[in-house]
Amino acid sequence: MTIIVIAIGGSLLRPEVEEKHLWLNDLIGIIRERVAAGDRLALVIGGGAPAREGITLAKPLITDDYHLDKIGIAATRLNATIIREAFTEGGISVSGIIPTSVNEAIQLLEERPVVVMGGTEPGHTTDAVAVRLAASVNAKKCIIATNVAKVFDEDPRKNPNARSFDNLTHNELQQIVGPAEHKEAGGSSVVDPIAVLEASKENLELNIIDGRRINLIKQTILGLDFEGTKISSELRK
Ligand code: UTP
Repeated sequence: MTIIVIAIGGSLLRPEVEEKHLWLNDLIGIIRERVAAGDRLALVIGGGAPAREGITLAKPLITDDYHLDKIGIAATRLNATIIREAFTEGGISVSGIIPTSVNEAIQLLEERPVVVMGGTEPGHTTDAVAVRLAASVNAKKCIIATNVAKVFDEDPRKNPNARSFDNLTHNELQQIVGPAEHKEAGGSSVVDPIAVLEASKENLELNIIDGRRINLIKQTILGLDFEGTKISSELRK
């Protein structure tokens, strides 16, 4: 049985973008199709705008990142709830509970073909949750759907000459995102450095894609060639 694990960056849920619900509707279509084909899928949803908003509001009052992380986690679960409810409405057999741990998610996947969750505990982001889940169920890879086309060596918004990559090793990606530390609540890099280290230890392939392009999500699920950055232990450039 194939289990597909996808981290969906919270930035992909942006109601301020006109007709954003169409993206969600397309996602429902893909997931429905894969369930009909016999796949099991776990979607781990990031916190996006509500995480940033909540953490920014509380930051002047709360010094301990542990407590700010809890606000971030609540936002990831809010976003997971939006997706879970929309999936239910779309006729997808999705677990009725938003699991709060990787183990709970694995249990729920035995009952339903689709599980949607957010974060688990403080100290990392949902990328790390997705990697742990993918490693625990022996998934072939972990898909990370974010809002950049590829991994760049520098932030392309700051340096228009930044170089992008189609393939990287785990070590090369680690060099780009930095050491495996949880820097600050709500702090964002293209992939959580903690997730990169864990994927490296587990020898887990990562497919980093621009999730705004819904077709890329479909292509990576199907294991087809995709535009984005593939992270593996062996360099295939
Ligand atoms: P995200 O997973 O959204 O991280 O969690 P991110 O990289 O900041 O943002 P995206 O992926 O671009 O949306 C938001 C925040 O929630 C807390 C962290 O503070 C994180 O920065 N969090 C999340 C946890 O502490 N534990 C978790 O398991 C998940």
